[in-house]
Amino acid sequence: MPTRTELERGVGEVLIDESTLQARIAELGEEISAFYDRRDPLLVGVLKGAVFFMSDLMRHLTVPCEVDFMAISSYGAATDSSGVVRILKDLDINIEGRHVLVVEDIIDSGLTLSYLIRNLESREPATLEVAALLTKPARREIDVPVRWVGFEIPNRFVIGYGLDFAERYRNLPYVGVLSEDLIPEGV
Ligand code: IMP
Ligand code: MG
Repeated sequence: MPTRTELERGVGEVLIDESTLQARIAELGEEISAFYDRRDPLLVGVLKGAVFFMSDLMRHLTVPCEVDFMAISSYGAATDSSGVVRILKDLDINIEGRHVLVVEDIIDSGLTLSYLIRNLESREPATLEVAALLTKPARREIDVPVRWVGFEIPNRFVIGYGLDFAERYRNLPYVGVLSEDLIPEGV
């Protein structure tokens, strides 16, 4: 077995490798471009996890688009969402009348996204859609309308390609399962 870097030692197994990720994101780019034909979208990336997905997805869009970012934090335990969401960084752009596409890393309980959708809806965009790279259907507590999903994954804590565990591992180029050794007690 090749020597693993300290970063790679956090990974129990690779769930979605780099080429599989990139191929699917290219497909999504094509579908999303067709959907927004002549309606330039405003991509709203949710910091920090969605940054990798956002930048790769944008490069596959053949329609002109703008980008903006929001940072939100959910109060709760390390690997669990409470649904109580605080906006840490709001949009710079007024989205009224705009075609807004929220770009998310992963939908777990759905609570964070559900809050975000309600918040953005109140600003009266012309349309509001969601593209999420990953979804864990088994964990869903609230139904959220997501038009594009990259991959459905099992109920496991994943890291890499933007996703973190305690702010680390975002820089892995693939999606991996967090090593069992690092999963905190009671999760
Ligand atoms: P939700 O509110 O439960 O849907 O949580 C969504 C947020 O929790 C995501 O945007 C991620 O930041 C984080 N999250 C959920 N599951 C994972 C995971 O498996 N790995 C890393 N972050 C996760
Ligand atoms: Mg996170």
